[in-house]
Amino acid sequence: MERTRSYSSGFWVLLLVTTLAAPVLSEAGVGLFNARLKQIVTSSTLKWANLKNEAMENYVIGAITESGEPIYLCRTRHEGDMLIGQLRPDYNSCAVSGTKSYTIFEVMENIENASLIIWTPWYKFNSKPSGAVAVDSSLDTTFVGRIKANIGYSHNIGRINYESTVGELISFDEENNELVENNGEILIEVEPVSYKLDNVELDLHTQHVRQSDPQVFEERLLRNDDDVAATVTTEIEYKFNYTLSWGHGHGIAIGLNTTIEMSDGTQFPQIEWANPYKEEKKELYTLQIFLEPGTACNVSFRGNTTDRDVQYTAKLTTYYKDNNARSRHIRGERIENTVEVEAVYGEIYYMSNNTLVPTTTTTTTTTTTTTTTTTVLPPLPPSVEKNDIGMIMDSNSILEDSSEDMVKGPPEKEDINRSVVGGLGSHPNSGFKIRVTSIALLIPFALLL
Ligand SMILES: *[C@@H]1O[C@H](CO)[C@@H](O)[C@H](O)[C@H]1NC(C)=O
Ligand SMILES: *[C@@H]1O[C@H](CO)[C@@H](O)[C@H](O)[C@H]1NC(C)=O
Ligand SMILES: *[C@@H]1O[C@H](CO)[C@@H](O)[C@H](O)[C@H]1NC(C)=O
Ligand SMILES: *[C@@H]1O[C@H](CO)[C@@H](O)[C@H](O)[C@H]1NC(C)=O
Ligand SMILES: *[C@@H]1O[C@H](CO)[C@@H](O)[C@H](O)[C@H]1NC(C)=O
Ligand SMILES: *[C@@H]1O[C@H](CO)[C@@H](O)[C@H](O)[C@H]1NC(C)=O
Ligand SMILES: *[C@@H]1O[C@H](CO)[C@@H](O)[C@H](O)[C@H]1NC(C)=O
Repeated sequence: MERTRSYSSGFWVLLLVTTLAAPVLSEAGVGLFNARLKQIVTSSTLKWANLKNEAMENYVIGAITESGEPIYLCRTRHEGDMLIGQLRPDYNSCAVSGTKSYTIFEVMENIENASLIIWTPWYKFNSKPSGAVAVDSSLDTTFVGRIKANIGYSHNIGRINYESTVGELISFDEENNELVENNGEILIEVEPVSYKLDNVELDLHTQHVRQSDPQVFEERLLRNDDDVAATVTTEIEYKFNYTLSWGHGHGIAIGLNTTIEMSDGTQFPQIEWANPYKEEKKELYTLQIFLEPGTACNVSFRGNTTDRDVQYTAKLTTYYKDNNARSRHIRGERIENTVEVEAVYGEIYYMSNNTLVPTTTTTTTTTTTTTTTTTVLPPLPPSVEKNDIGMIMDSNSILEDSSEDMVKGPPEKEDINRSVVGGLGSHPNSGFKIRVTSIALLIPFALLL
């Protein structure tokens, strides 16, 4: 329920309005009026921040001086009330009237310049507009406004107070006259509707991989009970929970649809920002080994939970209702949780007497079947590579080409046939019966997220 509600509230995280205003000097999200919910919600892209010289370029400008210098929006407590004020050149105090200014104050920061804020015309009979910036998050009656000035600064900054449905704009001029106006401008944060992350590039130097110890998911026995040599295959179906997170923050509103595309064009599933993509994946793994008649091999199928963290850079485009869009570059962190599996093949043994198949004496046969077998071999376990080569591929020297891929995917059936034929050192067209035993297993196993 809460989830649904926060989605319908658009991009702002619901703020459960606290009874006390945030004390000055503790940084706080800026409150915005949400007309649909008729309450104040917290902006993810605007905050009330302590003054930092290096962040000034992202402070929200309310007016400019005669000489073109910016006047920033600030707020401070004055006689118990939170008031909107002006941070003027030389930028060390917040003026709330012509004569009164405070050195303890907060300034309005547009985080990462991510917010689209506009001054929009206001008239006292207008209802409170959605996105209006509240001076004090605990009050839904006082908003940030301004009015064009005739002389001096470009605008007089002030607060728009609503008594019931009618508002008034209260500001002051340079002569410290309090001005009460019926119209002016109100500050609004425009609500984004979705995001796109594209041109995503992973910064692989920053990658960290954490793996748990491998766990055995299944032990299998591959056996050849037939009277001819055969490639025995078994498919194992396994499931695991896969998650992919693209991070949070960056002034991107939680829960908004975000599409993701790598710089090479690869698309990732759409996410709602700050919520990881989750999927219960189901995959097949093929166990496969060539066995002489009467022999068998133990295989253990095992896997790791694997977490990969890597930083990325991307172009972030924010879309707004009226098809407006703004782009900027961000650096984020991607976290992938997955499972990596492998099959560990034991040594081949005779089923009749449980002794290992000898491994050194079978490499002597020479044949002419060099053929074109530079294709993939059946996956052989790295640990028993040498042994099986002798037996299967006695006449071919193709192993170097393919040893890397061995444990990976299943080769094409065609290759199986070929390797088997070659391995037997016999005529490719002889009437050998090649039997491929295929057993599909379903092995559900639970994994950590
Ligand atoms: C903030 O973004 C706007 C719109 O993309 C751009 O015009 C402006 O120059 C940016 N300001 C800073 C300080 O980067
Ligand atoms: C987000 O994407 C989903 C699936 O594409 C769509 O059904 C939904 O309407 C989108 N939400 C918004 C707010 O655009
Ligand atoms: C194969 O597995 C069985 C049953 O676990 C075991 O008794 C046997 O020793 C194993 N053989 C080899 C060669 O690993
Ligand atoms: C599992 O993790 C261990 C230790 O990090 C590693 O040696 C092994 O190769 C991993 N196994 C798989 C299937 O990734
Ligand atoms: C085990 O049996 C196989 C065939 O059944 C035979 O070739 C091999 O010599 C036997 N090994 C031993 C040690 O008896
Ligand atoms: C494998 O060989 C058998 C017998 O020669 C043949 O019937 C089958 O079609 C071959 N399979 C593939 C995938 O080529
Ligand atoms: C995936 O996660 C869900 C929810 O946590 C859980 O019910 C399910 O059993 C998990 N699946 C696997 C294969 O671990």
